[in-house]
Amino acid sequence: MDRAVAMAIVDELVQSPNIRKHLLATEAIMRGLARHLHAEGAEEAWGLAGLLHDADYEATEKDLDRHTDVVAERMAKGGFAQDIIDAVRGHADKAPRTSLMAKAVYACDNAAGLISAAALVRPDKKLAGVTVDSLLKRFREKSFARGANREEILTCGAELGMLLPDFLNVCLRAMQGVSKELEL
Ligand SMILES: [Fe+2]
Repeated sequence: MDRAVAMAIVDELVQSPNIRKHLLATEAIMRGLARHLHAEGAEEAWGLAGLLHDADYEATEKDLDRHTDVVAERMAKGGFAQDIIDAVRGHADKAPRTSLMAKAVYACDNAAGLISAAALVRPDKKLAGVTVDSLLKRFREKSFARGANREEILTCGAELGMLLPDFLNVCLRAMQGVSKELEL
């Protein structure tokens, strides 16, 4: 039920196929992280936070100070739990990232971008051949996917207690699991 409501919000607010794919990637990663971190029973909620975190990106593009305001309002109307709304707002510094779910959205958002970019530079443009080693190499290349903020990804250590290779591995496997939807 909640996912259908979330998808309706995505359908309403998201035009860009790339943003839609970024949201689906982040949803899959968040579900993977919930399982990995044994956030019992939270997989659904974590997935929804990932799915919705950038849903109003286009709607607020011209005024990024408003990023997450629009989607948070839709979520409140749709009856989403406050901790999911706070996790969405937290990734844009609009709410304190107190929950593990909020910390996970913040850390994995840019990992999703890094991993997509790593697939797209391959000759086959597929996630299947991407490895954690290749991601670590890309991570250290400052000129590669500059938009993927390394500092934010590195918060996986202090905030989630996960070493970078472990974190990238969970993110990569999760994205590989939805590669068809991501067209990667
Ligand atoms: Fe994002």
